[in-house]
Amino acid sequence: MKKVLAAAVIAATCFSLPALANPLIIKFSHVVSPDTPKGKGADKFKELAEQYTDGKVLVEVYPNSQLYKDKEELEALQLGAVQMLAPSLAKFGPLGVRAFEVFDLPFIFQSKDDLNKVTQGQVGQDLMAMLEPKGIKGLAYWDNGFKIMSANSPLHTPDDFLGLKMRIQSSKVLEAQMQALEAIPQVMAFSESYQALQTGVVDGTENTPSNLYTQKMHEVQKHATLSNHGYIGYAVIVNKKFWDELDPTLREQLERAMADATTYANEISQVENDEALAAIRAAGHTTIYELTPEERSEWVTALRPVHEQMASRIGPEVIESIYQTLQN
Ligand code: LMR
Repeated sequence: MKKVLAAAVIAATCFSLPALANPLIIKFSHVVSPDTPKGKGADKFKELAEQYTDGKVLVEVYPNSQLYKDKEELEALQLGAVQMLAPSLAKFGPLGVRAFEVFDLPFIFQSKDDLNKVTQGQVGQDLMAMLEPKGIKGLAYWDNGFKIMSANSPLHTPDDFLGLKMRIQSSKVLEAQMQALEAIPQVMAFSESYQALQTGVVDGTENTPSNLYTQKMHEVQKHATLSNHGYIGYAVIVNKKFWDELDPTLREQLERAMADATTYANEISQVENDEALAAIRAAGHTTIYELTPEERSEWVTALRPVHEQMASRIGPEVIESIYQTLQN
């Protein structure tokens, strides 16, 4: 009996060894610092995925565009060179999935609650489904936060943007937004933004406090306005073929890791941004400005027409379904 048990133990050990010695690797590439909502979310997913699969999966996280910049990372995912990414929702246009640019419409969301209604509801699911013909599966939405505008001159009213070169993400809606302010939009990879600001290739930018702070962009921007005119969040995506071909038990464990990492990432995002804003203030390079209600309504008047202007690109029905969702 003892012998049988011993044999069973040996067999079990031998069986599990090859899996541990040769784990399945998930390469998770992203462009921001590890010390951001997305960076921390990715690290949490790694921790939980490895724990829930008992080490059968190893997640290699590559932050700060170490492996790929914005555009290349989506190509790498489609080719299977990496398995997982979390690009900003503003970066799916060049892939041909323009509906995601709805998230960039100025002043469409008043709060994170608004956002959750969209991302956790039917619209969020429908958008993710649009990625599938591109060989991509959407797993989750992760929050970053609302954007602030920055430059080396004060940005109080729309007139203050006249002629400023502003770095944007690769979204036509963001291009239209900057044009509505009579600024000159410049699409640029995230990894190149700091240097472009530092050398004066661009005058200003828009981003969340956590992205500005962790890339040190605030050190080269004298003014920032808490405009909350738009939002940055992410779609966590995987190569669909890779995901579909996973062992079903493993996939379930990874789905659980993703669900828990998503809860974590979305819980920390506001605090991360609040702390980054406090750190930007404390660093003393940047004067932080809050819009008066009158100034805010000038911004809204200048930017709201972008909704109509971009309707045919995004799909009027997508915009309408968001308006509907937010009314309820
Ligand atoms: C940007 O390019 O500004 C952001 O999308 C970066 C990010 O991933 O948050």
